[in-house]
Amino acid sequence: MILIVDFGSQTAHLIGRRLRQLGVEVSYVYPEKINKQLRDGKGFTPHIPMVRGIIFSGGPASVYEKGAPTVTKKIFELGIPILGICYGWQLMAHLLGGEVKNTTKEYGPQTLRLRSGQAFNKSIFSLPEDEFSVIVSHGDSVTKLPSGFQVIGSTTTVPLAAVVNEKENFYGALFHPEADHTEYGMEILKNFAINVCQETLNPLVLDPNAIIGEIRRAVGDKNVIYAVSGGVDSTVAAFLTGKAIGKSLIPVYVDSGLMRPETDQRVKYIFTKLIDANLVIVDARKRFLKALKGITDPELKRKAIGKLYIDIFEEEAKKHKGVAFLGQGTIYSDVIESKGSKLASRIKSHHNVGGLPKELKLQLLEPLRNFYKDEVRQLGRLAGLPEDIVAQQPFPGPGFAVRIRGEVTEERLKQVIQADAIVLEELKKAELYEKVFQSFAIMTAAYSTAVKGDSRVFAEVVGVRIIESHDIMTARWAHVPYDVLASISSRIVNEVPNVSRVVYDITTKPPATMEWE
Ligand code: XMP
Repeated sequence: MILIVDFGSQTAHLIGRRLRQLGVEVSYVYPEKINKQLRDGKGFTPHIPMVRGIIFSGGPASVYEKGAPTVTKKIFELGIPILGICYGWQLMAHLLGGEVKNTTKEYGPQTLRLRSGQAFNKSIFSLPEDEFSVIVSHGDSVTKLPSGFQVIGSTTTVPLAAVVNEKENFYGALFHPEADHTEYGMEILKNFAINVCQETLNPLVLDPNAIIGEIRRAVGDKNVIYAVSGGVDSTVAAFLTGKAIGKSLIPVYVDSGLMRPETDQRVKYIFTKLIDANLVIVDARKRFLKALKGITDPELKRKAIGKLYIDIFEEEAKKHKGVAFLGQGTIYSDVIESKGSKLASRIKSHHNVGGLPKELKLQLLEPLRNFYKDEVRQLGRLAGLPEDIVAQQPFPGPGFAVRIRGEVTEERLKQVIQADAIVLEELKKAELYEKVFQSFAIMTAAYSTAVKGDSRVFAEVVGVRIIESHDIMTARWAHVPYDVLASISSRIVNEVPNVSRVVYDITTKPPATMEWE
């Protein structure tokens, strides 16, 4: 197996996921645990006897920072190949006598240029092209190589971006090969796992029946209240739970008024027609508007929404006998972005994880917690859910609230719902809806001047964000044809009241998250 030392990168789990896709077994470890094992002279035993390669993940720290996570130098004496990614490479360089400096900060796509020639053919960077796009996200760079290393590739700003110590089998990348938008990233990981670490491949099989079995064992004869939103994650999770426990499943859809207007019809169809469950729909539109009154801070907003959802679920749970579990459609990216990994920075509190009160009276059931979106879709298909449900674009749990910068008022909610519908209609008309990952409108809380019907108005700017992504951790803005953007813009300024102009968001993730809040 390949051992991933988790230094807190948002994409640490994604490295493992990519390797898992190839059929390589992986395990994760925090640096302090491996340090202890190595200092105690125990090597990796007894838990991890079969380590054939080690990957140091990235992380938010700087190697010189007080308390920055580190590893004992003994790890370099094990004779095991090591690949350091981003912070992992900086740390390796720092510990092996190189130099790391706070240089140009870079986030997003960059071009990596590889040196060619015989000497480099055996490296993990032996790829079909010498120049390709990579995703970078770092503040520090390695400025002097440790001895035994040679540089194989550079970006415009980072000379030591791809490096090799062939004798020791140590590799470094100041970019993220695990990111979906790094071209040939998968090949780099594959070269490392197969050619360098001599790993054998056992491709992962996504098996809904195995998950159904696990749910049945976990729940026993208790009842489960399942928080459903009509979206892909909670639908697949609750659907598998329904298959596992039948009528013991009580799906609850809380109509917060923050969801797309057709959502309650969708939920009714899934949980009464596709599976015969005891569906409950709670009309909480007024309560949500009241709870959000006056709140402008994005994190406080998410917390307020999360708390109200949980309060309502607890109220509902009390109305039913024998409820011991609260089911949620949490998937892996929700967990990691709500500080699921010990060393990862908190990006934002995804409402179904970060907003939970400490003393939740129900046990959580999150059967999809370790899966990525595309795996969840595949599980849904295999379980028999229709394509239009599994292929639908994701929609955030806190709904339109995180697409209204500043206070959520009834009027701004109406505006964003109308603008959102226009974005979706125009994309569907252009047959682009299913080709992009997510598309939506944002009330930006920026104001500008316009002239409507010969009079000056000073009104809000609407943002449009249309993105392409496979794994949520990285994304690029969709290069939508101008005429489609033109129709979206013209319809929004004309049809949505009190809007002065429309702007298109052209920011990649990283650095920008998909949602504005
Ligand atoms: P960000 O904005 O973090 O979004 O790049 C990544 C994906 O997650 C969705 N999202 C959420 N989903 N609860 C959810 O269930 C949340 O609180 C939440 N916040 C963002 C977002 O729409 C995108 O698909």
